[in-house]
Amino acid sequence: MAFVCWFSLYLVGFLHRTQLAVAQHDDRSTMLALKKELQVPEWSANDTDYCSWTGVQCSSNRSMVEKLDLSHHELRGNVTLASELRALKWLDLSFNNFHGPIPPAFGNLSELEFLDLTWNNFDNSIPPELGSIKNLIYLNLSYNSLTGRIPDELQSLKSIQDFQISGNSLNGSIPYWVGNLSNLRVFSAYENKLGGKIPENLGSVSDLQLLNLHSNQLEGPIPKSIFASGKLEVLVLTLNKLTGNLPESVGNCKGLSSIRIGDNMLIGSIPKAIGNISSLTYFEADNNNLSGEIVAEFSKCSNLTLLNLAFNGFTGTIPPELGELMNLQELIVSGNSLFGEIPKSIIGCGNLNKLDLSNNRFNGTIPKDLCGAPRLQYLLLSQNSIRGEIPHEIGNCAKLLELQLGSNYLTGTIPPEIGWIENLQIALNLSFNHLQGPLPSELGKLDKLVSLDVSNNQLSASIPSAFKGMMSLIEVNFSNNLISGQIPIFGPFQKSLKSSFAGNKGLCGEPLGSSCGNSFGPNNGGYHHKVSYKIILAVIGSGLAVFIAVIVVVFLFMMREKQEKAAQAAGIAEDGAANPPEVTAGHIFVESLRQAIDFDAAVKATLKESNKLSIGTFSTVYKAVMPSGMILSVKRLESVDRTVSHHQSKMIRELERLGKLYHDNLMRPIGFIIYEEIVLLLHDYVPNGTLAQLLHDSTMKIEYEPDWPKRLSIAIGVAEGLAFLHQVAIIHLDISSGNILLDANSKPLVGEIEISKLLDPSRGTASISAVAGSFGYIPPEYAYTMQVTAPGNVYSYGVVLLEILTTRLPVDEAFGEGIDLVKWVHGAPARGETPEQILDAKLSTVSFAWRREMLAVLKVALLCTDSTPAKRPKLKKVVEMLQEIKQS
Ligand SMILES: *[C@@H]1O[C@H](CO)[C@@H](O)[C@H](O)[C@H]1NC(C)=O
Ligand SMILES: *[C@@H]1O[C@H](CO)[C@@H](O)[C@H](O)[C@H]1NC(C)=O
Ligand SMILES: *[C@@H]1O[C@H](CO)[C@@H](O)[C@H](O)[C@H]1NC(C)=O
Ligand SMILES: *[C@@H]1O[C@H](CO)[C@@H](O)[C@H](O)[C@H]1NC(C)=O
Ligand SMILES: *[C@@H]1O[C@H](CO)[C@@H](O)[C@H](O)[C@H]1NC(C)=O
Ligand SMILES: *[C@@H]1O[C@H](CO)[C@@H](O)[C@H](O)[C@H]1NC(C)=O
Ligand SMILES: *[C@@H]1O[C@H](CO)[C@@H](O)[C@H](O)[C@H]1NC(C)=O
Ligand SMILES: *[C@@H]1O[C@H](CO)[C@@H](O)[C@H](O)[C@H]1NC(C)=O
Ligand SMILES: *[C@@H]1O[C@H](CO)[C@@H](O)[C@H](O)[C@H]1NC(C)=O
Repeated sequence: MAFVCWFSLYLVGFLHRTQLAVAQHDDRSTMLALKKELQVPEWSANDTDYCSWTGVQCSSNRSMVEKLDLSHHELRGNVTLASELRALKWLDLSFNNFHGPIPPAFGNLSELEFLDLTWNNFDNSIPPELGSIKNLIYLNLSYNSLTGRIPDELQSLKSIQDFQISGNSLNGSIPYWVGNLSNLRVFSAYENKLGGKIPENLGSVSDLQLLNLHSNQLEGPIPKSIFASGKLEVLVLTLNKLTGNLPESVGNCKGLSSIRIGDNMLIGSIPKAIGNISSLTYFEADNNNLSGEIVAEFSKCSNLTLLNLAFNGFTGTIPPELGELMNLQELIVSGNSLFGEIPKSIIGCGNLNKLDLSNNRFNGTIPKDLCGAPRLQYLLLSQNSIRGEIPHEIGNCAKLLELQLGSNYLTGTIPPEIGWIENLQIALNLSFNHLQGPLPSELGKLDKLVSLDVSNNQLSASIPSAFKGMMSLIEVNFSNNLISGQIPIFGPFQKSLKSSFAGNKGLCGEPLGSSCGNSFGPNNGGYHHKVSYKIILAVIGSGLAVFIAVIVVVFLFMMREKQEKAAQAAGIAEDGAANPPEVTAGHIFVESLRQAIDFDAAVKATLKESNKLSIGTFSTVYKAVMPSGMILSVKRLESVDRTVSHHQSKMIRELERLGKLYHDNLMRPIGFIIYEEIVLLLHDYVPNGTLAQLLHDSTMKIEYEPDWPKRLSIAIGVAEGLAFLHQVAIIHLDISSGNILLDANSKPLVGEIEISKLLDPSRGTASISAVAGSFGYIPPEYAYTMQVTAPGNVYSYGVVLLEILTTRLPVDEAFGEGIDLVKWVHGAPARGETPEQILDAKLSTVSFAWRREMLAVLKVALLCTDSTPAKRPKLKKVVEMLQEIKQS
């Protein structure tokens, strides 16, 4: 079969060449060869009518291909042949799995105007030959693995309008000639390793509309030239090392809607000319060294939606004119030296959603009609010098999710109306103020609140037992007040640290450890005696229990050994009777292990029921102890069609290739054995079972240990293993928690990677129905595509993530008829359930940090399990997102 395939390819190539030599009239032979090479699934119909194949458009005389759109097909292979379609004007290969260098032969496509290679794995440097595509207008190489510098040969692309190379690892600097490209409209090179200065002529001879260079290592000033034509619409320079001012000439660009220059080292003040930019919608300049006052001219930008000036050196007051900004949704000025009143006018911004004034020197009071801004969700005023009382009207802020008033000079009592802010859930922080009086029992109504901090005030009386209504609480802090009486018996309270209640003289009960009884009575000493007596008894008792347990275990062990010996004797007798099968082929890829592995012992191990470790979709796994003492896991392939053993040499090549693929999170084969029609794959033995067992098998966990960091590490490891597979263009056919093994350190190893190479229906080595994967993990599109794809793998991985987050099975009758884990989680908002009701509460209620991480991972899982394959992130991206969650 393999030979036939190879032969037919050869034949096509041969025909193709002869035809080219005879007559160069049409692209038929090239298209047929491309079809063979790329195996485009939709290209199966009429061979003579290639102009009607999906994604193909021909010239008017229907012979030359002018447009080829092969995007979103998970294609791989050698696409060099496309360079022979000489009339091609449009080539779109985006969203596939092409890898290796970009074919230099594309430089021969002299008619090409549009080239899109985004979202592949092209590596190496950009071929200089692309510079000879003289007619090129659109060049998009974003999201590949390109390295090296931007080649100078591209300066001959005089017609280029859109030049996009983002999301690669390009280094060196942005060449000066980019500024000489007179038709350039879009230049996007973000997320690379570009250094040096932005060319000071960039945009000087063209109508630059979009410049996006964020996340590089660019230095020097923002060149004035980019504003020269006045046509700039989007400017993104975030996360670089830029210095100098924001040029006054920015005001030339009336159509500039987005200015994002945060996380640089910019100095100086914001030019007043900013007010001329009537389209300005986003202005983000946080984390720089900008200074001076916040210019009132921002108020002329009537579409301004986001103004973020946080963590700079701004002084003065907030100009009241900003209140004219009817579209303003977020005003973020934290971490500056601003002072004065909280401008009442801002309340007039009817769309205000977030007001973050924290970490400044504001020294006014909280305005009464604050919630004139009906959409306000985040009110962050902590670490200022705000005086006066908290107005009762705060209860009108019905949409508030987070209220931060800590570290100010607030006086008076806590208004009970705060208890009416039903949505308050992220935090209520009133700490480090001068608040007095009792804790209002109304706060007990805040049943979504996660974090409550009233520490370091002069609050008195007792903690109302109504606080037991705050069912979502994880973090509390009542310390350093004048609170007295008994701490109510309420899980979140007793689970807190002592320090959360410390510094209140009259407070007693758990977790403080001070009894609330008559603490001066004569019984006090007696009580202590009793306690120590009890402790001693308990210690003796448990010692006895341990002793008995040891005896029992030893006894059981001895029994077991006896039984095993008997069973072994029987097994040997059986084998003797049935004649041990003869091994016809076998190979160990890892040289150093060859001595330690005995083929016959491995075969014998699979004949004994008691060695069985697990049964999967495609295989049964056995434990095999070698005479050398080495322990192997031996996988006996179940649904191996005859074709596999008939394709032995091909299979062996595939296995050897996999054996060489080394990644920390992949379970690679170390060898194989073939006897009769049976294939055994050998792997290292992994002692800790599977992820499925860890999550769902109650016999595996002696005592349930909530350990979110361990689960997060497992999730990241699995994603890394799968991302690596995709990088080498291997699609996994059966991702499930049952195929993820855990080693002695709970490091995850993705198993069953061979299956994709051994059972590939597109190569005729298995039936399609055999490769759907495991129930509950199968992506919805599989029903009509019948193909497991990279986005399909992302979906299955998303299901594993949901299992990790919820500790629930992918399919469970409890979800209701026809509803699996994915549908159940996606349906939570519609059912009016909060994330808390979805996450495993044993983990999410342990700490605020765990909960936050779990919510962030939940977002990733929802993206991965999106029903539209194209909307799912790539695994490489998933790894990045998860690592970011772990680090923050
Ligand atoms: C078809 O038209 C193209 C130009 O559009 C020309 O180059 C080619 O020679 C024509 N082919 C035939 C077979 O006429
Ligand atoms: C293939 O397409 C060509 C051109 O449209 C048509 O003449 C021919 O009959 C088709 N062949 C088959 C087998 O459908
Ligand atoms: C791809 O095919 C071309 C010929 O069409 C050949 O020159 C080139 O070496 C091949 N590239 C790879 C990576 O196999
Ligand atoms: C481009 O085409 C010419 C002539 O057809 C050929 O000699 C050359 O090798 C091609 N260039 C590449 C990079 O394939
Ligand atoms: C690549 O850039 C072109 C314009 O240069 C654009 O039309 C295309 O949508 C981009 N591709 C992707 C996948 O964003
Ligand atoms: C740029 O990247 C290439 C290839 O990754 C590397 O060899 C070279 O040293 C890098 N140059 C600089 C200046 O970092
Ligand atoms: C860019 O254009 C200017 C003026 O046309 C010219 O002097 C300069 O040499 C050009 N630079 C490059 C690198 O092409
Ligand atoms: C403000 O935004 C609206 C809606 O996007 C748009 O129609 C309008 O032109 C913008 N105003 C200015 C001054 O750009
Ligand atoms: C607020 O602080 C500023 C600057 O320190 C000062 O001039 C002003 O008088 C203060 N306002 C009040 C009401 O204390």
